[in-house]
Amino acid sequence: MLPSIYNPSQPFTLGLLGGGQLAKMTAQAAQRMGLRVAVLELGEGSPAGLLTKLEFPGGWGDPATLEAFIQASDIITLENEFIAPGVLAAISEKRLVYPTADTMRLVQDKFNQKQTFSAVGIPTPHFAEIASKDDLRRFGEEHGYPFVAKTRTHGYDGYGNATVKRETEIDMVWRRFMEGETKRPLMAESFVTFAKELAVIVARNKRGETAVYPCVQTIQQGHVCVSVLAPAPIEEHLQVRAQELALQCVETISGVGVFGVELFLTPDDQILFNEIAPRPHNSGHYTIEACHTSQFENHVRAVTNMPLGSAAMRVPAAAMINLLGEKAGSGIPDDVVEMLKVSDVTLHLYGKNDVRVGRKMGHLTATGPTIDVAFSRATLALERFVW
Ligand SMILES: Nc1ncnc2c1ncn2[C@@H]1O[C@H](COP(=O)(O)OP(=O)(O)OP(=O)(O)O)[C@@H](O)[C@H]1O
Ligand SMILES: [Mg+2]
Repeated sequence: MLPSIYNPSQPFTLGLLGGGQLAKMTAQAAQRMGLRVAVLELGEGSPAGLLTKLEFPGGWGDPATLEAFIQASDIITLENEFIAPGVLAAISEKRLVYPTADTMRLVQDKFNQKQTFSAVGIPTPHFAEIASKDDLRRFGEEHGYPFVAKTRTHGYDGYGNATVKRETEIDMVWRRFMEGETKRPLMAESFVTFAKELAVIVARNKRGETAVYPCVQTIQQGHVCVSVLAPAPIEEHLQVRAQELALQCVETISGVGVFGVELFLTPDDQILFNEIAPRPHNSGHYTIEACHTSQFENHVRAVTNMPLGSAAMRVPAAAMINLLGEKAGSGIPDDVVEMLKVSDVTLHLYGKNDVRVGRKMGHLTATGPTIDVAFSRATLALERFVW
């Protein structure tokens, strides 16, 4: 039995493993709907931790803090995929956790993801498990150069990826991933010369009800997402195909919660699976202003087994631009006055304590009658934003 969410005699608390921007925006949606949130994060004053008195600094590595967090929570969800499976399984013995420990075990490993989805006919780039330098050489011989070597776990913002351009680079790549302190299992996949990168957010609750958001285009620089165009400027049949593939991914793993499915569109209009994130996703931030129900609200609804809200857009187009740190310093911008004068643009600052180069500090979402208009509004606002 799921705990009752709207029980007048007992407030319901959603526990969030992690306190970054995804947890913050999830917490804001939960609180708007009358839920309380508990936040477990390493330190005090995280973006989500600042929103609640139920803040548990210490992280999941500290048993007493973890236990207090579990006791404070009715249902638990997570904002990133990096939690140790053993810890998640232990939490699951005491509380419902969504996505489940089984789902997480599957999606924490990019090789398992590709194996699971290609087994049900979802197209992916060629991929292989890598256990030795010879495996890398064999992959290059079989599928050609360049190819991409990836750590199977703990990759984010491209940190676990390396493009192998020629055989002579194999030693260097092997050293980088396999001889450092953070040695992780590796995989290889063929390099996709994509025409566009796409993403689809899918929400699914325990009853199997689903809500599929429009397919968007994501634009990355140096493997980091810099902007998102919604809906993706692609033909209608590709929109439909991308949504179908993303839904199939989430149904294949019986996922409960919100999932971000990243896809490649090739020049000959094939859509290939790249990876799935078991949580709200950067490509879905635009849904706060541009869709009937944001990805964060649908995440809360999905993990608490409430009916899902419409994922349809309520404006013709939207553009999101990430505010990435440009230099080390405080997380507070010098000037937002001129930026705020741009119409139909919403500023989101996450309230992180310090800036690092490339760190996601906030984002801007612009809406408009067309993608071009929305994107130029967002770009103008970005130009006027002063760190
Ligand atoms: N096989 C590939 N071919 C071409 N480009 C790739 C390939 N795999 C990854 N990339 C590029 O690198 C980016 C990051 O890769 P991936 O999504 O695997 O890593 P990540 O570190 O988990 O990313 P993020 O946290 O940014 O989603 C992709 O969005 C894409 O631009
Ligand atoms: Mg990715």
